[in-house]
Amino acid sequence: MKKETVISVNNLGIQLGGRTILQNVDLEIHKGEFIAILGPNGSGKSTLLKLLLGLIKPSVGNISVLGKSPHRGNDAIGYAPQHRVLETELALRARDVVGFGFDGNKWGFGFPNKKREDLINKALKEVNALHLGNAPIGHLSGGEQQRMLIAQALITNPQILLLDEPLSNLDINNGQEIVSLLARLSREKKVTIMLVSHDINPLLPVVNRVLFMARGQSAIGTPDQVLTSATLSKLYDTHIEIVRALNRIFVVGAET
Ligand SMILES: Nc1ncnc2c1ncn2[C@@H]1O[C@H](COP(=O)(O)OP(=O)(O)OP(=O)(O)O)[C@@H](O)[C@H]1O
Ligand SMILES: [Mg+2]
Repeated sequence: MKKETVISVNNLGIQLGGRTILQNVDLEIHKGEFIAILGPNGSGKSTLLKLLLGLIKPSVGNISVLGKSPHRGNDAIGYAPQHRVLETELALRARDVVGFGFDGNKWGFGFPNKKREDLINKALKEVNALHLGNAPIGHLSGGEQQRMLIAQALITNPQILLLDEPLSNLDINNGQEIVSLLARLSREKKVTIMLVSHDINPLLPVVNRVLFMARGQSAIGTPDQVLTSATLSKLYDTHIEIVRALNRIFVVGAET
């Protein structure tokens, strides 16, 4: 069966603040693929997602998402930005925050109708958070807020999900629950998922490929292809060891 390309990136490069953040990035992502994006702080993971969303423009190269140049307000893409814990005084209800996912959509702002509320409930249910919907968002725990951001990303029933560290703040059980939910979406609904994480371990059973970013460069392939001493040492330009212990993978030598 021929694979359908949903995201294609050619010779992408971006400079910000006079520094090269990404260069020579080439990607061909297929429908229904589950991709983990890994790499140290500042390696351009969030920047790549913002480029795919059209929130920022590349300095060089081409990006095509679902056959078009990236543009804002595309309902076919669900996005959960990198999370900062919200102010405790923030009185907005959690379900209102989830509803922000409609921004720019035909059920958007100012029309509190049945359809809209039903879809918010559906998204809350998908992340097991229906019981938290009426709570002020600022009162929720970091992990609970994280679930709300994922629900927000799911609300337009997108074909592509771009999730920036959705597992941070989640404990092991809650993280696994979210990973299973996402794996089901990619498998059954053929949703394409690009998920930024600092730990590959909870994702190893479900990802198709990993995109590893460091020093403005990137490597993409199956976990077995990319998570090797040879590939990562080349990417980081320093000796990296992959240590396997307790059924987990550790990248050693990378963060110094
Ligand atoms: N608007 C900007 N102007 C100048 N520099 C920027 C801008 N946005 C991002 N950068 C820089 O680009 C680099 C990559 O940032 P990015 O947020 O993509 O990293 P990241 O891989 O997501 O890191 P983290 O793991 O910490 O989230 C950083 O060094 C950052 O300081
Ligand atoms: Mg980031």
